[in-house]
Amino acid sequence: MITFITGNQHKVKEAEEIFQKFNINLEHNDLGYNEVQGTLEDVAKSGAKYACEKLNKPVIVEDAGLFIKALNNFPGTYSSYVQETLGNSGILKLMNDIINPEDRYAEFRSVVGYCAPNSEPEIFLGCVKGQISTEEKGSFGFAYDSIFYVEKKCKTFGELTRKEKSQFSHRKNSLKTFIEWYIENSLE
Ligand code: IMP
Repeated sequence: MITFITGNQHKVKEAEEIFQKFNINLEHNDLGYNEVQGTLEDVAKSGAKYACEKLNKPVIVEDAGLFIKALNNFPGTYSSYVQETLGNSGILKLMNDIINPEDRYAEFRSVVGYCAPNSEPEIFLGCVKGQISTEEKGSFGFAYDSIFYVEKKCKTFGELTRKEKSQFSHRKNSLKTFIEWYIENSLE
């Protein structure tokens, strides 16, 4: 049994979707942890260590962000704050002059931090490539989903169901890498 530390119900549902496929039990706890100033990797490592020491059981945390190339990787590690302040309309405004779809390249990055009692945290990376759309589309998902356009689906994340998004999202990729490592290591 692994405990996923998050206060975000969307993340819980997405993770459950992925864990079910591997028959691993996942429980959820929104204990919370201080997000250190730093990279996604720093946040995931320190969050996992903190929660594991607090609960004394194996935990995962996940830290993610949207990195927009034309904006020098903004909002990146500030994604949460920027979503609350500028919001999607603010991001679209910042990108008003960028017409060419290739120049609107963006990626979501996700880092899973895993920590078990008496060991050091491990981290696992996932990423998904896309473009910032020119308008908000779709009402599924959360935060930047409605402006993150995925070319091969011809849809934004906001237009995809949770099941569809969880087949190839940044979170799917980091969690899958973690689960494969976890299975390999718990068989030893
Ligand atoms: P967190 O710190 O991992 O919760 O992620 C920081 C912020 O990135 C969130 O508050 C969201 O604004 C954004 N974010 C992370 N993952 C997603 C996603 O799957 N869809 C849309 N926005 C996301």
